[in-house]
Amino acid sequence: MKLSRNSQAMEFSPIRKFNPIATEVQESGVKIYHLNIGQPDIKTPRCFMDAVRAFDEDVLMYEQSQGDIKFLESICDYYKREYGVGYKPTDIVVTMGASEALTMTFTTIIDPGDEILIAEPFYSNYQTFALVRGGDIRPIPTSSKEGYRYAAKDKLEAALTDKTKAIVCINPGNPTGLALTAEEMDVIADFVIENDLWLIADEAYREYVYDGMKPRSFANIDRLKENLIVIDSVSKRFSACGARIGFVASKNEEFMTGIIKLAQSRLCVSTLEQIGSTELFKLPSSYYEEMKEEYCKRRDAAYEEIMQIPDVICHKPGGAFYMMVDLPIDDAEDFLMFLLTEYRDNNETVMFAPAAGFYSTPGKGRSEIRIAYVLESGYIKRACQLIRTGLEAYKAKMSK
Ligand SMILES: Cc1ncc(COP(=O)(O)O)c(C=O)c1O
Repeated sequence: MKLSRNSQAMEFSPIRKFNPIATEVQESGVKIYHLNIGQPDIKTPRCFMDAVRAFDEDVLMYEQSQGDIKFLESICDYYKREYGVGYKPTDIVVTMGASEALTMTFTTIIDPGDEILIAEPFYSNYQTFALVRGGDIRPIPTSSKEGYRYAAKDKLEAALTDKTKAIVCINPGNPTGLALTAEEMDVIADFVIENDLWLIADEAYREYVYDGMKPRSFANIDRLKENLIVIDSVSKRFSACGARIGFVASKNEEFMTGIIKLAQSRLCVSTLEQIGSTELFKLPSSYYEEMKEEYCKRRDAAYEEIMQIPDVICHKPGGAFYMMVDLPIDDAEDFLMFLLTEYRDNNETVMFAPAAGFYSTPGKGRSEIRIAYVLESGYIKRACQLIRTGLEAYKAKMSK
């Protein structure tokens, strides 16, 4: 018996594959600062738990495949209130996180051999999402020097082929933290319309943009109506990663008909988590403002500490809660293994995601790491100090 070729071609997630080693290290009493995973330490708003606790039915029934109507309405109200976007409940399908929203979207639009454009480095699971459908990721190269910017007509056109079916825009970006400007979003909109492409806009971090930038959705660009598929989630926006609630929104009726067939085949998403999430989307705009301020503080703390590392290259990110850091080393995985298994400072060490897994181009990103600034500022500072002092110890060991 054999596994499928697609399964054999898949890689383990660079974000999670070192977890078994980390668990052993923690069990031995060492404290690890986790900058490897986008799991914020911020409290999930109480309204979520209160709504779940208030559930008082005798039978926990299946929900509608498309989603609980009250939840769908609360999502539509949020889009109207915060962005002036007029989604109807029939434009939305609730999914098990943005992750299922993406696998279902790819299943609905991608045939084997189709190409999907995405700026590289990109959230590593896209590689797996595409592979499952037999699609090929075609990376748009970017560089730290240029702040990972990719939304220019010449760059987009250089990546286009006659197999291109879609472009994915993670905005703001994971792992780069790039926040697109309104002008860049317009360039992308023109490009997808001219070339008759799907635009998959992954806006899971939409509210988290800094330095006076305004949160924006591609859904605000009316002429994109037929091309646009928005991917959204409660995980990051409300620090509710374990709820496993996300959704797809699109005004393209053909796409919605296709994706609903898939939604029906997996019956529905957790009833209780939808009840909790309904309340999350009723939170006032001030909630996003507060969170944004907090993440901005964390970003500044991380950036300040990281820039103390000699010969480091790091572009200050404008959004989300990730930062790419190019270290003066050859192999970030080897450095991480050193931190996990050998390096201790006051019985503490640190963990990040080696960045090679965020590239589909072989050999790229080996000296880079991604840090998730999801811990409070004091912990972030300490964790970044451990990267610096750990690097000194690693270099001393390597030069022996
Ligand atoms: C860009 C991006 N898309 C999708 C996801 C998946 O999110 P969810 O927890 O909603 O499945 C993540 C999670 O880190 C992400 O960073």
